[in-house]
Amino acid sequence: MEHAEWARELAEHFLREPLPRRWAHTQGVAARAVSLTPILGEHADLLITAAWLHDIGYAPDLVDTGFHPLDGARYLRDVQRVDDTLCGLVAYHSGAINEARERGLIDLLTAEFREGRPELAEALIYCDITTGPNGERFTVHERLAEICARYGPGDLVTRVIGINESLLLAAVASVEAALADVR
Ligand SMILES: [Fe+2]
Repeated sequence: MEHAEWARELAEHFLREPLPRRWAHTQGVAARAVSLTPILGEHADLLITAAWLHDIGYAPDLVDTGFHPLDGARYLRDVQRVDDTLCGLVAYHSGAINEARERGLIDLLTAEFREGRPELAEALIYCDITTGPNGERFTVHERLAEICARYGPGDLVTRVIGINESLLLAAVASVEAALADVR
C-alpha cells in the first residue's frame, strides 16, 4: 500500500484544512476503494491511490481551469510526475468527459490525458458515487439527488448529472455484481 499511503498524505495536505468536507468525502471514497480489494486484485493499490487523489483538484492551491479533474490530473502529472494510468483515472473520474464537454474543455482533456481501463474507471465511479459529502455511505440515488440539490436546478453540474446518470448507474451495477460474485 505504498502508493496509497503517499496519496493519503498528499490529499490530506491539500484538502483537510481548506476543504474539510471534501476531505471527509475523500476519506469515505478511499474506504470504499479498500472495500473493493477482493475484486481488484493486483489493481487494488492503484484504485485506492486514485480514490485518495480524485478530488485533489478542488484544493485552492491547485485550481487553474476551475475544472477539478483536469486541474488535479495536471498537478499530479507536472509536479508529482505521476504515471499516465493514475493521471487518466483522476482526469476522467465519474463521467468527467461529459462535464468537460459542457465546460468547453473536452479538447484540452482528451489531448492531455488518456482514459484508462474501463473496469478501474467503473470501480472509481462506484466509490465516489456511493459516498456522501461527509464521507457517509449513500446509495447512488441518494448521492445523485444530493449533488443536484447542492448545485441547484440551473447549474452545469446538475445538467451533467442528468447526462451521466445512466453511465453512473451502470458502473455501480457492474461493481455490485462483481462484489456479489466473490461473496
Ligand atoms: Fe470529483
